[in-house]
Amino acid sequence: MDIASRPSEPAENAQLAPELGNTAPPPVAATVIRREDYQPPAWLVPEVALDFRLGLDASHIVARLSVVRNPAGSGESTLRLNGDQIAPLAVRVDGREVNDWRLDGSDLVVELTGDAHAVEVETAVNPAANSQLMGLYASGGMLCTQCEAEGFRRITFFPDRPDVLSTYTVRMSGEKAQFPILLANGNCTASGEADDGTHWAEWHDPWPKPSYLFALVAGNLTANSARFETMGGRQVALNIWVRPGDEDRTQHAMNSLINSMKWDEETFGREYDLDLFNIVAVSDYNMGAMENKGLNIFNTRYVLADPDTATDGDYDAVEGVIGHEYFHNWSGNRVTCRDWFQLSLKEGFTVLRDQLFSADMGSEAVKRIEDVRILRVGQFPEDSGPLAHPIRPDSYEEISNFYTATVYNKGAEVIRMMRTMAGVERFRKGTDLYFDRHDGEAATCEDFVRAIEDGAGLDLAQFRLWYSQAGTPQVCAEVAHSGTQVVLKLTQTVPATPGQPDKQAMPIPLRVALFDRATGTHSGERLIVLDQDSQTFTFDGFAAPPVLSINRGFSAPVAIDFAREKADLVFLAAHDDDPFARYEAMQGLVLQHLVAGVSGRLDDAARAEGQAAIGEALGAIIADPAIDDLMRGELMILPAESYIAEQLPVSDPGLIHAEREALKAWLGRALAEPLKALHDRACAVPYSREAAARGARKIKTQALVLIAAGDPAEGAARAFAQYRAADTMTDRQGALMVLCNLDAPERETALADFHDRYRDNALVLDKWFSLQAGALNPKVLEHIAALAQHPDFTMTNPNRVRALYMAAAVNPRAFHDESGAGYRMIGDLIRRLDPINAQTAARFVPSLGRWRRVEPVRAAMMRAELERIAALPGLSRDVREQVSKSLG
Ligand code: BES
Ligand code: ZN
Repeated sequence: MDIASRPSEPAENAQLAPELGNTAPPPVAATVIRREDYQPPAWLVPEVALDFRLGLDASHIVARLSVVRNPAGSGESTLRLNGDQIAPLAVRVDGREVNDWRLDGSDLVVELTGDAHAVEVETAVNPAANSQLMGLYASGGMLCTQCEAEGFRRITFFPDRPDVLSTYTVRMSGEKAQFPILLANGNCTASGEADDGTHWAEWHDPWPKPSYLFALVAGNLTANSARFETMGGRQVALNIWVRPGDEDRTQHAMNSLINSMKWDEETFGREYDLDLFNIVAVSDYNMGAMENKGLNIFNTRYVLADPDTATDGDYDAVEGVIGHEYFHNWSGNRVTCRDWFQLSLKEGFTVLRDQLFSADMGSEAVKRIEDVRILRVGQFPEDSGPLAHPIRPDSYEEISNFYTATVYNKGAEVIRMMRTMAGVERFRKGTDLYFDRHDGEAATCEDFVRAIEDGAGLDLAQFRLWYSQAGTPQVCAEVAHSGTQVVLKLTQTVPATPGQPDKQAMPIPLRVALFDRATGTHSGERLIVLDQDSQTFTFDGFAAPPVLSINRGFSAPVAIDFAREKADLVFLAAHDDDPFARYEAMQGLVLQHLVAGVSGRLDDAARAEGQAAIGEALGAIIADPAIDDLMRGELMILPAESYIAEQLPVSDPGLIHAEREALKAWLGRALAEPLKALHDRACAVPYSREAAARGARKIKTQALVLIAAGDPAEGAARAFAQYRAADTMTDRQGALMVLCNLDAPERETALADFHDRYRDNALVLDKWFSLQAGALNPKVLEHIAALAQHPDFTMTNPNRVRALYMAAAVNPRAFHDESGAGYRMIGDLIRRLDPINAQTAARFVPSLGRWRRVEPVRAAMMRAELERIAALPGLSRDVREQVSKSLG
């Protein structure tokens, strides 16, 4: 059953129901929270007992807090409990009902006289009306919670901050028929039935945790169960809970979980610490997944996978996200964050851990290329725009807006640099010390850096700048050769970012190698650290000028500015023994050509020369038997339009698109025969989950993309044949993607077939929406408008909203249409979505926020759209912060 048809969902154009949780937050004056204002909590809450009487449209909660004065706190007698869209039904202190509490904004304030008290608060919420999907909400007839970062306060009043750690005991009761399964953190300690059709369960989590890690789930669920024995001999029961009927698609998630548990023992020495580990999949979810202690909650898209419905990319995403949330059990839960400014402490580190895990499970080289691509497409633009912030921000208005590519992906790169400088073994000594020293604590990024310093024996004094300075450093390289000496001169600039006009030089670890042109080899890689504005490095023993390979493996998250000969890039694309550097050379070759084209610097001769060099390099890559197909597939992907735009201070998205498409078409024609041969060879490889077969599927679609660009009729015919012959979603989706770009009759036929075949599968229908919205089709805006009216579209399911509109927002053909209709479409979406789901709405603002980097005509329309949003009364804090920073 699709959630769009569920009557309990609030209507889309929500005639805002007065129920709690469904109303737009009242307008509040902008309050800025600053890192420097941190104060330890005045009161601690060592123990919490929660009692839930569960119902879909009315749940009643009694929270009993044992509160004690914090010896390290301010000593004030006022107990401040955060709330959000809730009202206290009763307040008791030490067993007696009190009336002298007050509400300060949405916080509950109680005056206490002693040093320790029992405080009890009753609240009620309407989960079915909770369209924000924060706090306790209903999804597909079940109840679940999402508390990070500040959702717990939508359930009950509490000091909802990560440095208040409590042990939780949770009791819940509800209709047995409606909620046969009752889950919470930790272990189930008791359960029973009443004779009124209800049943109850009691759960206890022995590990103290902040409120953001609390979770509860109640509903009709079936489990895929397995066991895992930890390195210390603990027997852990594993369950992956899904809606009945979905259990056949959970085995990959289970395998990924078991692999994660084993890997964290072997790689970081981390062992699981409870007898039970539950994962629940829910279909209405704002994010990807959440690491609640012992009860991870997942978006269904990161749990369910089988060959017919999930692509190879989906399989990888499931593995990565399962790993990520599992790894948080140590990096996040056992050691948590002192405050939300420290978010990268858990997220940056855990992203690095999941990246290393996925690299070990598959191809290290391909994983590195994918991660760098994500950084360049998602983080570099953030770092050079109005929303730029350091990986440890200094201030925020709404913390949900800071779950960013900077905190996550640049955060991971920063820790990866420490690992590169220390070496794997010494880095491990550092992380061991960190976990040891801070187990059970709420720590800071500074604590982490100090532990790595002490454990790994590094001096990270200057390196700390990576935590405080925003902006992607630009490194300019110059090579001079004389006699047998090579002098490499490096200069760094860290660009100004909002609130940070002047920057200091940062330590930038660069893996470099110098290749001998004649032999195609080098005599060893060196790690150099550029830690001044400008510095020279000398290398000896070179009779002839060598070819420089720099930032190998992407050892630092910087942009390298190095004027290279095309011939050198072709050389490195063919000879570099670092696979990332090889990819980088290929990307550089294409980038140089496209940037020159967009800047009007290509005359006919230069264009022909550039095309020929790229054609030669790509032809060699297609033909090279030494490259495996997964890697070949990566090498065949041209730089994204957003990354091309990133190379220029201001650019015309129309020109970028036209140049890139023109190159694709030229390559498709010039390499038509080898591409067709490659496609034929890949089509003959039978299905398996092994790397070779996955590689074949990857190049199959990449070949098709170029073939279709060069010869649309041939492309349509081959894509349609691939669609019809498909025995996996990878092949089917790849073929459909290519067809969606074309104005061919096969497009309609395949789309209708796809919808027919998967009409009951929400995750696959999401693909149907996003393939059409992401298509480089001249009529794409019309298609999107029609899809928004489709009966399967709904504004209340974040996966569906993202499927249609995120795909549209990142599709230059749609978003940057010269009419401005794409900007209007995203502006309208933000305005309509904000009252329903502010967090999701705010995620669409940054695309409009890049207006300063776009040519003036479009920039004016983008800005006007932001102004229209800003003028609306009653905007959420989430959207308001992003819009005002984008305009400011
Ligand atoms: N802790 C987050 C989930 C989260 C983020 C909850 C923001 C509430 C607000 C979780 O560990 C996470 O980072 N999930 C990612 C996926 C991960 C693989 C990077 C997500 O949900 O996108
Ligand atoms: Zn995370």
